[in-house]
Amino acid sequence: RLTKMRGLTAGTLRIAVVTTAKYFIPHLIGEFCKLYPDISVELKVGNREQIAQRMAEGLDDFCVFSHPPKKEEYLLTEFLPNRLVAIAPEQHELAGRERIPLEEFARAPFLMREAGSGTRYAIERHMERFDCELNVRMTIESNEAIKHMVMAGMGVSILSEHTWNVGGEAGIAILDVEHLPIKTNWYLARLGSKPVTPVAEALLEYVQREERLKGLKKVEL
Ligand code: PGA
Repeated sequence: RLTKMRGLTAGTLRIAVVTTAKYFIPHLIGEFCKLYPDISVELKVGNREQIAQRMAEGLDDFCVFSHPPKKEEYLLTEFLPNRLVAIAPEQHELAGRERIPLEEFARAPFLMREAGSGTRYAIERHMERFDCELNVRMTIESNEAIKHMVMAGMGVSILSEHTWNVGGEAGIAILDVEHLPIKTNWYLARLGSKPVTPVAEALLEYVQREERLKGLKKVEL
């Protein structure tokens, strides 16, 4: 099927991704474009709320979420795990400890993503589930800025491991906290009512070939 699709010449793939997906989607699309060199790509990046808005308006072929909004007309393809991992500055007292109780981690000053973020949504739901309240010290709109604030010693956080998979973990310690990481998944979401273009269909088929995604996966924590 893929070989047949190689005849695919031109076309635009419109894809909108949440901020945490921007670290690996370019690598995936890069490989995909080697198979289909003549397609062009329009990539948008925003937080969950912004991408959910694009999804509702049907602006893209696909949106990438780890917490897709639930609507009957949204067709979801799960394609990659997404783990939200606890981090601290390298010299932090929790760094290197085993099985840190969630309550103890929660007492450390916490750097939280902005309202509308899927990362925040997942963290809040997870903490509610364990009846645990975080000591939120700052609200910060960017994964990079949170990582650098952590490196600067301003507190701890929980971020998708994709945030440092490309670009390194220098300056941060990954913490071993009970009930963490939060295990979620990535989904390609599309509107059931919107026709699937040949390029979009080719991408859908591409991500469903498990072996292609291996390079994007990190070893189990
Ligand atoms: P966000 O993305 O935190 O940038 O909104 C992550 C997600 O939706 O899971």
